[in-house]
Amino acid sequence: MDKKVTVVGAGNVGATAAQRLAEKELCDVVLVDIVDGVPQGKALDLTEAAPIEKHDAHITGTNGYEESAGSDIVIITAGIPRKPGMSRDDLISTNANIMKSVTKEVAKLSPDAILIIVSNPLDAMCHVAFEASGFPKNRVIGMAGVLDSARFRAFIAMELNVSVENTHAFVLGGHGDTMVPLPRYSTVAGIPITELMSQDRIDALVDRTANGGAEIVGLLKTGSAYYAPASAAVEMAESILKDKKKILPCAAYLEGEYGCNELFIGVPVKLGKNGIEEVIEITLTDDEKAALQKSADAVQELKDILKKL
Ligand code: NAI
Ligand code: 2OP
Repeated sequence: MDKKVTVVGAGNVGATAAQRLAEKELCDVVLVDIVDGVPQGKALDLTEAAPIEKHDAHITGTNGYEESAGSDIVIITAGIPRKPGMSRDDLISTNANIMKSVTKEVAKLSPDAILIIVSNPLDAMCHVAFEASGFPKNRVIGMAGVLDSARFRAFIAMELNVSVENTHAFVLGGHGDTMVPLPRYSTVAGIPITELMSQDRIDALVDRTANGGAEIVGLLKTGSAYYAPASAAVEMAESILKDKKKILPCAAYLEGEYGCNELFIGVPVKLGKNGIEEVIEITLTDDEKAALQKSADAVQELKDILKKL
């Protein structure tokens, strides 16, 4: 393949992302992890599936970074996931250290790469990667909104018994309990869901979306979601690799947009070969603005905690 994507963290999200990238023949994949044998074993296993899955992507597993040199995109999933009873924020000090060291390694060898950050707490980890890499803001992007809005879409499709392909949904804000699903901008075949279901049912779906991560953690008990998170990260990577210019909700570094300053927060952005090519500003009602501000305050609190670590 003429494109290369490195995935750091060969755990549940990382290995599934590697599988999806390869099976879609988007790029060659380098899978990096600190645990000896795991990235090598998973890369070999995926390689042995290639004849059946009919793709020619090369997948390499390694504990070092040399093989990652010159990557177009680096997806960072390294870190610990949450267990039942833990919030994403409980992961901050462990994952901040991991994020800092990993980002420094990848930035050295892939100075032109676009970073897609996945590790939690997501918005705070974007700040760590932004500072550790020294990359411009268009090349550090957080994955959360695509996942949260996919969850909202899945719930809308289940509720109305329609194809998921007919659904669109928008979720803004930080990837936490204060995320802001936007029913007015969520549609089925172009029709806002506010026309298709009662306010009570919308509230129930919004609540399920905001707690979507915890719902899966509660069921799995030993870790967090990974199929949908991997799909979300790969959708972002595909838009960049193919310069598709999809508008997707992603964590972006804002400097004044939506009234937020020097903060990573989920907003609609255009993703193309240069990473974030535009932040799309949509009109929000006073209530939506207040919810976004509350979410921004929660991200700011995490940013303040980072300074004290
Ligand atoms: P996992 O535990 O299955 O995988 C994490 C991997 O990172 C492990 O294989 C571990 O060995 C590796 N790792 C740890 N330190 C490392 C280092 N210094 N260098 C390289 N690799 C290292 O966890 P999972 O489920 O894959 O989740 C990964 C992260 O992504 C977690 O922080 C989780 O909370 C987050 N997450 C974020 C989502 C989002 O929407 N932004 C969605 C799902 C997960
Ligand atoms: C999720 O939303 C854990 O952030 C992860 O599933």
